[in-house]
Amino acid sequence: MSLNVKWEKEVYSQNKQVNKYPFGEFISIFFNSIKLLPQEKEKKDIKILELGCGTANNIKFMSEQGYHVYGIDGSESACKIANEFLLSQKVKATIKKSYFQDLPFENEMFDLIVDREAMCCGTFSSIKQSWNEASRVLKIGGMVISFMYTSDDRWCKKANNDTEMAVKVEKNTFTDFNVGDFKNIDIVHFTEYDELFELFDFLDIKLINKHGNNTVFTDESIDFSYDEWIIVGVKK
Ligand SMILES: C[S@@+](CC[C@H](N)C(=O)[O-])C[C@H]1O[C@@H](n2cnc3c(N)ncnc32)[C@H](O)[C@@H]1O
Repeated sequence: MSLNVKWEKEVYSQNKQVNKYPFGEFISIFFNSIKLLPQEKEKKDIKILELGCGTANNIKFMSEQGYHVYGIDGSESACKIANEFLLSQKVKATIKKSYFQDLPFENEMFDLIVDREAMCCGTFSSIKQSWNEASRVLKIGGMVISFMYTSDDRWCKKANNDTEMAVKVEKNTFTDFNVGDFKNIDIVHFTEYDELFELFDFLDIKLINKHGNNTVFTDESIDFSYDEWIIVGVKK
């Protein structure tokens, strides 16, 4: 089981990937899908959990909307940076260092679980186990918003074509990328469409959006291409 050692050692303890702002798509899908939750509850009574919250970029945004927000991350440094950031911004949220595989929360505690490219960090079977654990802490009728890289992502295609670029763990799952966006992270699985129905078999799926950001010209000094599924569903 990969418990993000590199995220701690190579990324957050080196003050890298300290994101302060949510990605644009996250804001759009949050506002578009939050209306699926029962409307009679006050925002402060709606409990949201972000899995793999990193440095609290999404947590800050959701807390500022008035929700009761929790985040977990397996990196000690990410949690420390997240707590300092929230304090400096005078935003309240609860951040705990823990792993997807064993969440420190009681059954059916949350109304919404959010995952932005964090649950993809594992083999397919470990991701499935992690979603089972996430389902445990989600209320029936509660919602999931998940972002997962697709197998059309350029780094998945490159790694499948070039065996020197990364170590292949299993189909569309790689570790030890030596270049690119996934360098210095432990492991990543790029998901195929059909796999989504296995991972999210506890959900009544409301939306699957294939979001691709495709660069059509670059001089190679910068690129900004990625391909992801955005999944919204409600627990059965
Ligand atoms: C791509 S970052 C996403 C951060 C944040 N969600 C965002 O949108 O900016 C993935 C995060 O997942 C965390 N992570 C990876 N594997 C984990 C595990 N098994 N348990 C808990 N956190 C994990 C990493 O530490 C990292 O912060």
